[in-house]
Amino acid sequence: MKVVILDSPAEVARYGADIFQQQLKRKPDSVFGLATGSTPVQLYRELIERNRAGDISFGAVRSFNLDEYMDLPPTHPQSYRYFMNSEFFDHIDIDPANTRVPPGDAPDPIAACEAYEQAIGDAGGIDIQLLGIGRNGHIGFNEPTSCLTSRTRVKTLTRETIADNARFFAEGEHQPHLSVTMGIGTIMEARLVVLLATGASKAAAVKAMVEGPVSAWCPASILQMHPAAVVIADEEAASHLSDPGFFKHIEAENQAMLARLGRA
Ligand code: PGA
Repeated sequence: MKVVILDSPAEVARYGADIFQQQLKRKPDSVFGLATGSTPVQLYRELIERNRAGDISFGAVRSFNLDEYMDLPPTHPQSYRYFMNSEFFDHIDIDPANTRVPPGDAPDPIAACEAYEQAIGDAGGIDIQLLGIGRNGHIGFNEPTSCLTSRTRVKTLTRETIADNARFFAEGEHQPHLSVTMGIGTIMEARLVVLLATGASKAAAVKAMVEGPVSAWCPASILQMHPAAVVIADEEAASHLSDPGFFKHIEAENQAMLARLGRA
């Protein structure tokens, strides 16, 4: 697991955007796994700007989102489909037909989850999976105790997650307690995983992910087993790590080596 610690959320967004830009240069028809939440918004803004500037194109990209609330139609302002359209897809040159979000309102959710897995496979698998992390260590809506080899399925949200996300719902508005989420096994099959973490509220989860035992109690800890996982954290999110200086040292050495190779 590579851990990159940067000064600010803006730098986290830029570093993440650079990874997407490099991937698009290598493979314009990349398959991206995308995430919702507050954390990736700045990254999406960065990518939107680069798309407008003509530096990158999503014209041949296909995308699969991590998760969706059960029982919210895609037109509901709190649905993750609505979030992705308004925060990202509506502002870039991606073909809307090439964007997929797990179906939260399918008449047969089990068949819909299987079809989602099938569609990811048919697309050739995910090149980069973008992740945030929950305060409880969840990735997607894979809450603590999730099976570490799980596939796309219906998942009950913890009370902590429901409370964390209550800020997005008006008082008295129906807030779903169930979700459809890619599984941890699905996420682990992505060729590259990029997890963004910003703010002090994520510090304990980041420590558990990076240093803790691999455990279903902290689903993100499974990324220790991923051959290409990059955690990009700001100083606050990295503040509980035992030795942040070690990761900064590695990153400085890496940058120096890339500069020597003329690839910085
Ligand atoms: P956040 O959510 O980006 O809104 O903090 C992250 C997550 O729950 O995965």
